Amino acid sequence: MMASHGGLGTRAVHAGDPEPRPNAPVVNPIVPSTTFYMDPDGGGDLLYSRYGNGPNHTVVEARLAALDGGDDALVLGSGMAAMACAMLSLLQAGDHVVATDAIYGGTRALLSTELTRLGITTTYVDFFSPGWREAIRPETRVVLGEFPSNPLLRVADLRPIADAAHEHGAALVVDATFASPFNFRPLEHGADLVMHSATKYLAGHSDVTAGALVGSHARVGEARKRARVWGPMLDPHAAWLLERGMKTLSVRMERHNRNGMEISRWAEGRPEIAHTFYPGLASHPDHEVASRILDGFGGMMGIELRGGGPAASRFVRALRLAKVAPSLGGVESLVSEPRHTSHGAMTPQERADNGIRDGFIRVSLGIEDAADLIADLEQALVAAEDGPEQREAAE
Ligand SMILES: Cc1ncc(COP(=O)(O)O)c(C=O)c1O
Repeated sequence: MMASHGGLGTRAVHAGDPEPRPNAPVVNPIVPSTTFYMDPDGGGDLLYSRYGNGPNHTVVEARLAALDGGDDALVLGSGMAAMACAMLSLLQAGDHVVATDAIYGGTRALLSTELTRLGITTTYVDFFSPGWREAIRPETRVVLGEFPSNPLLRVADLRPIADAAHEHGAALVVDATFASPFNFRPLEHGADLVMHSATKYLAGHSDVTAGALVGSHARVGEARKRARVWGPMLDPHAAWLLERGMKTLSVRMERHNRNGMEISRWAEGRPEIAHTFYPGLASHPDHEVASRILDGFGGMMGIELRGGGPAASRFVRALRLAKVAPSLGGVESLVSEPRHTSHGAMTPQERADNGIRDGFIRVSLGIEDAADLIADLEQALVAAEDGPEQREAAE
């Protein structure tokens, strides 16, 4: 195997590759075979596709482990598959989870609906309020964070959270989807298991659904056991696409980070925007922590329009380059309104109490030229100001 060391850019291209031999392909081939020849006496690791250890899986797992600084990684059919297998591997009936209240909706459904049915309970906490520790009970086995958070991009200092979890014998699991290992490696800050929706930045092209866990051999091994039985394996074609996407992770993230900084600075100066949410801005509440524990501030940005919900509706309709879609982390810029997606089940007041007023737009900045994105956002801001009421008044 090659290059599990070196910089992140080098690892993203080479880690886990087989040693080169004359006539071997430079690009790892897709191996769709569902089964593999074995020694008639029982030898052989590669037996069956549902075990998820075919050549396309093992290479991408070695690469992910090298990027996140773990001993081992597991790739699965979606981010939710990864989260479910992580929870199933760490919890049993009677156990308790302390989870961030700013959690992805699917993960909330997993905890509050599926795991509750298995006798596992969850308390949601605000990790930014020191009182969160009071939620830890003797039966707490998992502390679950998600940083940077959706959509306010909050970044907590992980070390004190990890220390509190470990003092009580619980594992710290962190969903680092919004950052990717290029910007944030929670294992370096005390987390026990890191989870990614690889559908986002890792694959990077909005054309693969995949998930991943990275950690120690023991922790990943337990999740792997669950996955082999519950069966949410990644298809070899998708594993191959994920590997291809990951090769350009470092250059894509450099561009996402640059666009994030440049466009959020521009947004902060616009009179139509009441507030810009980006951890790279000094105005972000976690700027100091983010500067310390992130290697880049990422491509996710939030803007809150002064004109509220009506202005936001006009704004997203007027965009020409960035398009409305709920996912994130791809090369193309996408926008969504939390009031219609992740926070649609809350009342406007509940959302406002959580810092997400109507008029809030989440922007997943792609790798287009910053000047073109700014021009697009600017013309949409002007169009949003010039709503039907204003046009009628002018006529
Ligand atoms: C932060 C976060 N975690 C987990 C998931 C779930 O990932 P997937 O859709 O790949 O199952 C998502 C999906 O949007 C997400 O944004």
